Amino acid sequence: MRIVLLGAPGAGKGTVAKLLTEHDGSVQISTGDILRAAVKDGTELGVQAKEYMDRGDLVPDSLIMKMMEERLQADDCERGFILDGFPRTIPQAEELKKLLERLGIALDVVVNLEVPKDVILDRLTTRRTCSNPDCQAIYNIKSNPPTEDGRCKICGSPVIQRDDETEEAIMNRLETYNEKTAPLISYYEKEGLLKNILSLKSQETVEKIKAALHT
Ligand code: AP5
Repeated sequence: MRIVLLGAPGAGKGTVAKLLTEHDGSVQISTGDILRAAVKDGTELGVQAKEYMDRGDLVPDSLIMKMMEERLQADDCERGFILDGFPRTIPQAEELKKLLERLGIALDVVVNLEVPKDVILDRLTTRRTCSNPDCQAIYNIKSNPPTEDGRCKICGSPVIQRDDETEEAIMNRLETYNEKTAPLISYYEKEGLLKNILSLKSQETVEKIKAALHT
């Protein structure tokens, strides 16, 4: 499958994407995960991206496109990909369209995960993430807790709150989403690719996405 997952911060894009990879071997590509790994490794990209991310602002389109042009041409994308957190602006969507045309491939569907705002705020303040950049498993102290001593159930690394999980950064991320990313919903509606899904239970959402791929 080749899909884009849209949705506000905390809508569950990462959780749903990870479940979808079990379906047909498609790879999850999370720009947030790639950027957090770059920050942790102290690469040039990471140094440039960190201040934007900590504030809850978007990283400039030019940096994201450079990173994604390379990523989408890696061998593991041949079986399909789930784009989680990309594109995030209209210019990124336009550049993605040109890139996919050049590569001779097309998106199957763009899924917009709809989640009420109060649920989103609750999920963001209770999320925990594995600190291992190669893992970045997602937990939630209410719905999916890590081990009792706060470690990842997959790799055993400590589970942490992300640097952009302060109240101020969360509010900024939600505002940035409304201003810069929500316009992608009508963009992809016009492209005839959009599927809105009310997403309260991740496994049900995965089944709805699989059904949408076969219609
Ligand atoms: P990114 O990592 O993409 O963050 P985000 O979009 O804010 O999304 P989140 O990761 O916060 O949430 P999610 O929707 O994946 O939800 P999750 O599955 O974790 O980006 C971070 C930063 O990087 C950006 O602010 C920006 O600076 C930069 N960046 C990234 N991409 C960029 C781009 N393309 N352009 C420019 N800048 C970019 O779920 C949330 C919580 O809810 C978890 O605790 C989970 O366990 C829980 N949960 C999920 N589903 C359920 C459910 N059904 N029931 C109960 N709990 C649930």
